[in-house]
Amino acid sequence: MSGFSADWLTLREPYDLRARNLTVLDAVAAALEPRSSVRVVDLASGTGSTLRALNPHLPARQNWTLIDNDLDLLTHATATPLAKDVSVIAITLDLNSELEAALDGAVDLVTISALLDLVSDTWLERLAGAVAARSIPLYAALSYDGRAGLTPSDPFDSAIFAAVNAHQLTDKGFGPALGPAAAAFAIARLEALGYSVVHGTSDWVMGPEDRDMQTEILAGWASAAHDVGALPFTDITAWLKRRRDATATERSSLYVGHVDFFATPSATR
Ligand SMILES: C[S@@+](CC[C@H](N)C(=O)[O-])C[C@H]1O[C@@H](n2cnc3c(N)ncnc32)[C@H](O)[C@@H]1O
Repeated sequence: MSGFSADWLTLREPYDLRARNLTVLDAVAAALEPRSSVRVVDLASGTGSTLRALNPHLPARQNWTLIDNDLDLLTHATATPLAKDVSVIAITLDLNSELEAALDGAVDLVTISALLDLVSDTWLERLAGAVAARSIPLYAALSYDGRAGLTPSDPFDSAIFAAVNAHQLTDKGFGPALGPAAAAFAIARLEALGYSVVHGTSDWVMGPEDRDMQTEILAGWASAAHDVGALPFTDITAWLKRRRDATATERSSLYVGHVDFFATPSATR
């Protein structure tokens, strides 16, 4: 178990799909379009959200390798119904200690989604160095960038957001996380290694009808604020109750800022 439940990843998948930046997605599709087949490695694949989002945009013949350290999530991922020319294998690896092993063999594209904000500068240096050494393009989607907003506003929103962004910097198993700065750090690192990068925002946008997703996000934010100890428990629970009431009565809207990017080396193999 990784701490990411299949239920949560299933709940967020349609919001991720809707949020993915289309300019970046088009750039991925255009770069791979000339190939008769593609070999993709999806790092920290979870239940296979990137596989389902990207496979319709790639050449028909695809070989996917899904990597995660959570066997239960990988089992969900490999149950995805796919066209006959799309093959999928799943491998359990700890990407903190075994990142390079995940990139063994011939790879045309590395994908990653909703992970970069959880990792450290050291790990991102490793990832950038590993893909650059193999001249592999990298598509990284849905990295939280520190922006978020709630309607109607509440006097405690900004204190909760500050606590959430402080929690973002804690260690999630890859060293102290870069949190909101991760995508910009990765882009700068890849550009320094000679990559061209297309990037754009991929924000979650939720209206009053998106009650379940908002409820989960708000609970996660309250828990993060509690973990960092920046606010009294009673203030957090009172804030969460007000926000839940607004959500339950369909008066709440919410957005969360993300960044997508596609990085291509000057020469691909
Ligand atoms: C936020 S989820 C994103 C999953 C998927 N990419 C998506 O977009 O739905 C983070 C994923 O990272 C995986 N993960 C966390 N730490 C890991 C590690 N050390 N090695 C491999 N996978 C890890 C989790 O199991 C989880 O599937």
